[in-house]
Amino acid sequence: MKTWKRTHTCGDINRALVGETVTINGWINRRRDLGGLIFIDVRDRWGLVQVVFNPETLPVDAFTAAERLRSEFVVAVTGTVAQRPDGQVNKEMASGEIEVHVNDLQVLSEAKTPPFHLGRPSDVDESLRLKYRYLDLRRQELQDALIIRHRTVQFVRRFLDGHDFLDIETPMLTKSTPEGARDYVVPSRVHKGKFFALPQSPQMFKQLLMVGGFERYYQIVRCFRDEDLRADRQPEFTQIDLEMSFVDRDDVMSLMETMMLGLFQEILGITIAAPIPRLNYDEVMNRFGSDRPDTRFGMELNDVTDDLKDSRFKVFASTASQGGVIKGINAKGCGASFTRREIDELVEKATGWGAKGLVWMVLGEQVKSPIAKFLTDEEVSAIIAGLQGESGDLLLLVADQKETAWDVLGRLRLFLGDKLDLIPKDQYNFLWVVDWPLLEWDEEAGRYSAAHHPFTAPMDEDADMLGTKPGDVRAKAYDLVLNGVELGGGSIRINQEAMQARMFEALGFTPQQAREQFGFFMDAFEYGTPPHGGIAFGLDRIVMMLTGRSSIRDVIAFPKTASAMDLMVSAPSEISEVQWHELGLQSKQQRPESV
Ligand code: AMO
Ligand code: AMP
Repeated sequence: MKTWKRTHTCGDINRALVGETVTINGWINRRRDLGGLIFIDVRDRWGLVQVVFNPETLPVDAFTAAERLRSEFVVAVTGTVAQRPDGQVNKEMASGEIEVHVNDLQVLSEAKTPPFHLGRPSDVDESLRLKYRYLDLRRQELQDALIIRHRTVQFVRRFLDGHDFLDIETPMLTKSTPEGARDYVVPSRVHKGKFFALPQSPQMFKQLLMVGGFERYYQIVRCFRDEDLRADRQPEFTQIDLEMSFVDRDDVMSLMETMMLGLFQEILGITIAAPIPRLNYDEVMNRFGSDRPDTRFGMELNDVTDDLKDSRFKVFASTASQGGVIKGINAKGCGASFTRREIDELVEKATGWGAKGLVWMVLGEQVKSPIAKFLTDEEVSAIIAGLQGESGDLLLLVADQKETAWDVLGRLRLFLGDKLDLIPKDQYNFLWVVDWPLLEWDEEAGRYSAAHHPFTAPMDEDADMLGTKPGDVRAKAYDLVLNGVELGGGSIRINQEAMQARMFEALGFTPQQAREQFGFFMDAFEYGTPPHGGIAFGLDRIVMMLTGRSSIRDVIAFPKTASAMDLMVSAPSEISEVQWHELGLQSKQQRPESV
């Protein structure tokens, strides 16, 4: 058989090779027949090259073979590199100055017509692209995204290796860790009726590695969470996970800051000034209404509770008397530019997000508002002053418990920022959010739950309030936020058994319940546990930010749909009756009706 192996990649072929004979391998990207000549773009991972079949210089059988070529055939082409004739230079193409004049062609594999046009992905239903993911992966956009993902991982590994971190694997078949989402479980055949859980994160294992004396651990690790999916959430996703011993918050944050800014420098070539700003949780909530604020634009929340607590408008007065707040944002200029319908749409959105209503005020010669008649001139002036209103502005107010007011106004702010095009696209605003609450009240369960996880240490000065005012205790926790996306989060951990016991107590565990769930972990802490802390970043989210993609699926080779399915392999799927039986499980059909 003739040799078909490439002498050059498509990316290697350029003007310097004019006159030389080369062999390239790849896929047919596009073909055009022009006045007897056949032009074909051959594509491989490194580039595209135009090759020309000329019936006058090619043997008949080679030209006939060329006539049969279709998109996505895999070929080996041998020919001479030539300068393109004047006027045919393609400036859009890296190899646009040259072409290859073919003198031999081998078809290595034929291709059926693909189920969708690879060049026009936006016309194609995403589920079709996911079913034929291996074809979609041939597109430049996905190739680029996965190359950036690779470079990101390599950078992180080099950085952490250079700082003495050890890459240590932790189990995939394990026991559920209390991260807060639902677990994916795996039935045990050997121990019928018992289940492993896939890790939501290696949290307990990495802490045990600190007990085990490794001092610096990292892992680029798959995690599994059965939760409601969003544009930036997948049921299995990848963390850059690490843990360090003998450190405090500043040590972890400043090292991670160096890593992240170095990564953005490496991949995007941009210099972002250190240090990354730090804001505490209360401040970001009060100013932006979100624990992962997008700080690329203003429109901050303002509080006017004090000015309105005695208002004749009952909603304001009663909210204030029940410990709630009256807060608002100023949609600059929108009083003049928005139609009544656009304003009504904002009210609908706000109530859809859980507000009881949305007071609006259009500022002009007169103030227009559905509640104008209930407000005194002083109150109107106080609102305008509080929200820095000017003629033409639209003021939007919510009266509610602070959590609802934050959430609704935070979402309105993002909606308006987007609608009004206030968000600069090529800006990277990193932010550390610190001093998180340690616990949050779980209405359904009627008890506190851990805001981060139960091993997070309280701030030293707050620890005494664990028994008295648990809701006020702040945590030694930190989150890294970029442009409104939570990239990562971590904390300094509890390293003393007595404190861990107090934490479990605050979470409403009896000592017996705590032992059942975390006994092995509590035992470990009795044998000398260093002060330690760590963090985990969402690798997929980092790559999303680096590539400017809006969906996490665009940076994962084989992602799942928003309803947690793999359309290519058709998973999840049924298992056979034999498997049910072996696992000691009963399928729905086998189960008696009454169950
Ligand atoms: P946390 O639960 O905050 O912390 O997760 C860390 C980071 O992982 C990413 N992430 C996700 N990415 C894609 N899809 C998901 N479903 C998903 N869930 C989380 C986010 C998030 O910031 N063990 C702790 C870390 C620690 O304390 O060290 C943890 O897992 O970017
Ligand atoms: P109502 O008295 O329910 O007719 O409401 C009068 C106006 O106040 C309407 O424009 C409502 O959208 C608004 N409103 C009602 N409750 C609230 C609230 N909790 N916060 C902000 N606006 C409200």
